[in-house]
Amino acid sequence: MRYLLSIALVLVALPVLLFGLAGVPGRISRATPIEVFPDMDRQAKLRPQEPNPFFANGVSSQLPPAGTVARSEALQTTAGSVYRFEASPVNSGLITGTTNFVTVNPLPVNKQLLLRGRERFDIYCAPCHGRLGDGNGITKKLGVMPAVANLHDQRIVAMADGEIFNTITHGKGLMGAYGPLMPVEDRWAVIGYLRALQLSWLGSVDDLPPDQQAAFKK
Ligand code: HEC
Repeated sequence: MRYLLSIALVLVALPVLLFGLAGVPGRISRATPIEVFPDMDRQAKLRPQEPNPFFANGVSSQLPPAGTVARSEALQTTAGSVYRFEASPVNSGLITGTTNFVTVNPLPVNKQLLLRGRERFDIYCAPCHGRLGDGNGITKKLGVMPAVANLHDQRIVAMADGEIFNTITHGKGLMGAYGPLMPVEDRWAVIGYLRALQLSWLGSVDDLPPDQQAAFKK
């Protein structure tokens, strides 16, 4: 009997004790809570302007590490060009200070850029648009992505480079945004390569050197 009583006491006392410690959920209290796991709520830290004997110059805010680029600073890209981080055509696809798309790729279009563009295009764009850009990617074969744009459409050929940049960056219709996946230089590289793809469909015999034209005109 004594045994049962003590069990009953524990069964009653324990919840009462727990509720007493933890409080009823939703109840507001001014009392300092009991922290079983304080996580990282309180820890030693330095506020930016506080004096700090740890560093030689005695302040807690130190200069940014080497290689840090301020948003307003010039930056060296892998494609070799220098631009300002924000408000530049390279980042926005827009003519600075306007809402008009830049017509021409702001990066120097050279072999390096085109090779990079081909590689990125085949990774990011070909699944839907096809390696030729004609809209016959694997997603069409699988029937999971209807009506993928044919990038050789006259409308897209005539489109400003900046507008294509905008489509890659933010997506369009069923096409998702590739801005978060592709650094800006890669987006321009893809555009350079896409222009080469388009040109490959638009070439005519007249583009050949005169001495070679005859062979094809026969
Ligand atoms: C998941 C499939 C998919 C991928 C991957 C994809 N696209 Fe698209 N893209 C589409 C679809 C679908 C459309 C048609 C969108 C619409 O008009 O609704 C489209 C349209 C476009 C257009 C025409 C936009 C317009 O204004 O009509 C361009 C240019 C384009 N894509 C370029 C690219 C490039 C460059 C890549 C690679 C970085 C890419 N796409 C990757 C599905 C895709």
